[in-house]
Amino acid sequence: MARLIFGVMRPRQPILGTELAGVIETVGKDVTRFRPGDAVFAFPGGKMGCHAQYRVVAEDGPVALKPENLSFEEAASLSFGGSTALHFLRKADIKAGDNVLVIGASGGVGTALVQLAKHFGAEVTGVTSAANFGLVASLGAGRVIDYTKEEFTKGGETYDIIADTVGATSLARCKHALKDKGRLLMIAGGLPDMIAALWAPLTSSKRAIMGPAGERPEDMRQLAELAKAGVLRPVIDRRYDFARMAEAHAYVETRRKRGSVVVSVGHEG
Ligand SMILES: NC(=O)c1ccc[n+]([C@@H]2O[C@H](COP(=O)([O-])OP(=O)(O)OC[C@H]3O[C@@H](n4cnc5c(N)ncnc54)[C@H](OP(=O)(O)O)[C@@H]3O)[C@@H](O)[C@H]2O)c1
Repeated sequence: MARLIFGVMRPRQPILGTELAGVIETVGKDVTRFRPGDAVFAFPGGKMGCHAQYRVVAEDGPVALKPENLSFEEAASLSFGGSTALHFLRKADIKAGDNVLVIGASGGVGTALVQLAKHFGAEVTGVTSAANFGLVASLGAGRVIDYTKEEFTKGGETYDIIADTVGATSLARCKHALKDKGRLLMIAGGLPDMIAALWAPLTSSKRAIMGPAGERPEDMRQLAELAKAGVLRPVIDRRYDFARMAEAHAYVETRRKRGSVVVSVGHEG
């Protein structure tokens, strides 16, 4: 499915990179919201093109002023996980007091989900391995489950929302861990499990929420405000120079990263 969107044999967009932070070099004559010299972060998402020294972004697109308390690297790391987490928590209609489980709580999307669910007043449980317990607890999870030792569906606990960022479960496998009207957020997952979940509302009050998150300008502004207020803390695992891009991708593909990996693009213009 992804190949049909991004290119069957090779990437349709040859310059990869879905998010960025940097300084505005120049603006079009009708632009009023931004000026040259403004520090911004942006999330072109599927349009990519951010692994570059320059990227054109639309004034009314997913771009916002960089919070002053964040470095460029930190700001660049906010949008992928942050906007995905905002999208899915909004779709799940999260409320204060909800019991929320985040599978993959130490990843790029997971670290944002834990912090934002906590901010919205939820009780948060994170699922990760022991090495990441300290990180996930520091982000606001009241409880952390080690997936290498414990199956979260076996503990007897039930949740209003289960957010799966690694494709570790399906609606059929976790339905007993969902409360009545509970929602499974299938942020990553296989097509067969997603198709099977589409029929669930016919027979059950529990449902799955899936699909692409999209890139919304208002989410970028909200992420900036939350970061400025100290509610959303960027989590950066490793930093690479542009020349080591292949190594950066190889590390991400291990699926073991904690938070984000950031690449610094040298400015030789
Ligand atoms: N639907 C959408 O619009 C949308 C948007 C954005 C992203 N996504 C998808 O979301 C997924 C997550 O991306 P990401 O960048 O957040 O992932 P990631 O950062 O690569 O996730 C890695 C983390 O997941 C943990 N992990 C791995 N297997 C686990 C398991 N079985 N149980 C619990 N934790 C586990 C790892 O911890 P350990 O090292 O301890 O295992 C690691 O810290 C990707 O598949 C991406 O394509 C979807």
